[in-house]
Formats: sequence, C-alpha cells, structure tokens
Amino acid sequence: MISRNDPCWCGSGQKWKKCHYPKENPTSVVVNQALQYKKQYGILLKTETQIDGIRRACKLAAHILREACLAAKEGVTTNEINDLVVKLHKEAGAIPAPLGYGEPPFPKATCTSLNDVICHGIPNDIPLKSGDFLNIDVTSILNGYYGDCSAMVAIGKIDPEKKRVMETSHECLMRSIAILKPGVLIHEIGDIIDEYAGSHGCSVVDQFVGHGVGINFHESPQIPHHLNELKIPLAEGMTFTIEPMINGGKHQATIDPIDGWTARTIDGHPSAQWEHTLLITSTGHEILTLI
Ligand code: MF3
Ligand code: CO
Ligand code: CO
Repeated sequence: MISRNDPCWCGSGQKWKKCHYPKENPTSVVVNQALQYKKQYGILLKTETQIDGIRRACKLAAHILREACLAAKEGVTTNEINDLVVKLHKEAGAIPAPLGYGEPPFPKATCTSLNDVICHGIPNDIPLKSGDFLNIDVTSILNGYYGDCSAMVAIGKIDPEKKRVMETSHECLMRSIAILKPGVLIHEIGDIIDEYAGSHGCSVVDQFVGHGVGINFHESPQIPHHLNELKIPLAEGMTFTIEPMINGGKHQATIDPIDGWTARTIDGHPSAQWEHTLLITSTGHEILTLI
C-alpha cells in the first residue's frame, strides 16, 4: 500500500501527500473537529441550525432581562420582577429555565441576587430600597434552545464599594469577551478577570463558574473566572457563558442551609455579576445576548 511519503502514483516525482493525497473537504474538517471536541472534552460544537435556535433564545433572554431591569425600582419586590419574567416568557411561547431546575428544585423563574448575595438569590416579598443593588439572571428556553444572561441594577444611590464591584464585574466581563476567538485557551479568560479584579481591590469568586450553554442549561466546559490551568482551545461553534462574580471583600461563598441555593459572601461585603452568552465564530466571537 502506498504511504503518504512515497512518490505520487501520477509520476510527478512529488511525495503523494504533497500531490494527489485526498484532501479533507471543509465539511469533513468541521465534522472531525466536532467529533474530537465531543470525545476529548464533552463539548458540543453547534451546527448552523443549532446556532440559529440558540441565537433566538439569547435575544429573547436579553429582551426579558432588559424589561426586568427596567422594572427594578425602589418599593418593587423581587417577586413582582419574577412575575414579570414569567409573563414575558409566556407571551413569547418560551420557558424560564430556572423554575424547577436542580436539587432542591429552584422555586422561581429568575434569580434575584441582592447586595451580599453572590448568585442564585430567590425572589421574595421584600420591597427594594434605595442603596440596594441586585443582579437579575434570566435564562430562557425557546424551541428547546437556551440563552443565559444577567445584569446589575442599582436602586437609588449606592455606596462607593457597591459602585466599585458593579463596575469592576462589568469590565471583567467585557475585557474577557474581547479576547475570544478560536485557539484562545480557556484559562486566558480567568487570567484577565483575576488581573483586572485584583488591581481594583476586588476578589473573584471561584465556587461558581461560567459554562457551555445552548442545547442544555449547563454544558461542558466549565469557564472559571479565577486563575486556572484549563488549556482547552476555543473552537468555532462553541457557545458558553462568562459570568464573573466579583466581591468587595473575601472571595468565599456560603450557601443558605435552609433554601439550598442562596450564595452569600462570607463577610457580608457586596458582590456583583454580569453575564453574556457568547458564540465563537471563525474569526472571533459574537455576543448572543446583546439586544
Ligand atoms: N442562570 C444561572 C447561571 O448563570 C443559573 C441559575 S440555576 C437556578 O448559570 F437554578 F438557580 F436557576
Ligand atoms: Co450562566
Ligand atoms: Co445565568
């Protein structure tokens, strides 16, 4: 049997691999990479059809998040924000992913994380008051596809520490998004976030991470925001979140033993988070949860 380094059968004098060796066509390159990422990392590289569905789910989540943020005002309760999120999903023929998710089943349609709550806050009947700030996290399922995003809202005037963590977490998200393209290693995201947060007097939560998303709520890979050694290269067709949780004090979290969800800072200092769902394209990235 002729091997790659033998002279080509056509008589050109060149090696077979440089001459008539069958080339992979672009479709088989894409398929091979998808199979490799699935096998090696458990990562689903999405097809054009899937990306289309995920893009729609992301636009809806972003739209609902914007409405929820506009509704968050002094005197309004987080349960009222939750009701709005339920209504907007219903109107769009979509499902809010958090409701009933996980163990114990998450009891509401959205997460509202106030002041020292890092993430997974459960909406309640306490009215928002001036000086509060909160993260609202919306994940929508539309035609089976998932879009996940979150943002901060300040109620009235917030103190300088809250202002600092709110701005720092947003900057951490946008700076880490800016480097995304095929070949970038996952740990480079955490490198940027850790550096920026540290140099602004903030700490980075390591107990919760970003994640693959699109076909399922939480897919492989994990996207840590803290320093890490994950050397997985980003590839075209990956869809995942970055959602840095940035604390004013210590980085550690405690989980409420009664509800099993609410994650708070251990020292009572404030925490802030922003989240986008991202797509890796052939040349860079697309922020799917921008309106
Ligand atoms: N939306 C959150 C995230 O960004 C997850 C919330 S889990 C829930 O990954 F059960 F609380 F909804
Ligand atoms: Co997420
Ligand atoms: Co989210």
